[in-house]
Amino acid sequence: MPTLQFLSHSCFRFAIGQTTLLIDPFFSGNPKAPADAANINPDYILLTHGHGDHLGDAIAIAKRARSTIIAPNELAVWSQRQGVKAHPMHIGGGWDFPFGRVKLTIAHHGSGIGPGPNGWEYAGNPCGYLITAEGKTVYHAGDTALFYDMKLIGEMHPIDVALLPIGDNFTMGVTDAIKAVEFLKPRRVVPMHYDTFDLIKADPGRFAVGARSHGCEPVILAIGESLDY
Ligand code: NI
Ligand code: MN
Repeated sequence: MPTLQFLSHSCFRFAIGQTTLLIDPFFSGNPKAPADAANINPDYILLTHGHGDHLGDAIAIAKRARSTIIAPNELAVWSQRQGVKAHPMHIGGGWDFPFGRVKLTIAHHGSGIGPGPNGWEYAGNPCGYLITAEGKTVYHAGDTALFYDMKLIGEMHPIDVALLPIGDNFTMGVTDAIKAVEFLKPRRVVPMHYDTFDLIKADPGRFAVGARSHGCEPVILAIGESLDY
């Protein structure tokens, strides 16, 4: 049975058999990050986009742990230029990795890296991920607005666990995320991307009530807490 662990913000660790995945490993500068999280040695690091609260510590971890980064093409090639292994993909495309299948979905957001001294670096489009392994599918929405095609994602890929941002301001807020649950029809839903900073304070309890009204089981994970799915 695969396990996912919430490591604050939009970061999750997946244990699938002997394989460890990290998605959006934002620890440095994250006031909610678990103290030991940056010491995880993942086989793969999935990145939804280039913003600092998602790209985070990915390059440093990948260098130390020799992880392979999975990302949209432009962000994957940027990662290769930093000296790490990367598997480029793009939206709508899937690939069968040894641990399972990864498919990229759309996300309505930005994906610039920086800004540095020369401004923003281009990192292509942001994405979400469908991760199917051991007969179970997880949907990590990344940072996104609500979009109607979530209905199509749910129709074509029965979702066991959806990981949805609820923090508002930069992404869906609670009301839109409840609508996303209606569209996606996941078996369970975990809220993310809230309460890390003042700008994204949200009420997961109100989200849970809304999710339940659509027949979905809400799972509010404390930071560090795990879920077998
Ligand atoms: Ni973002
Ligand atoms: Mn973000």
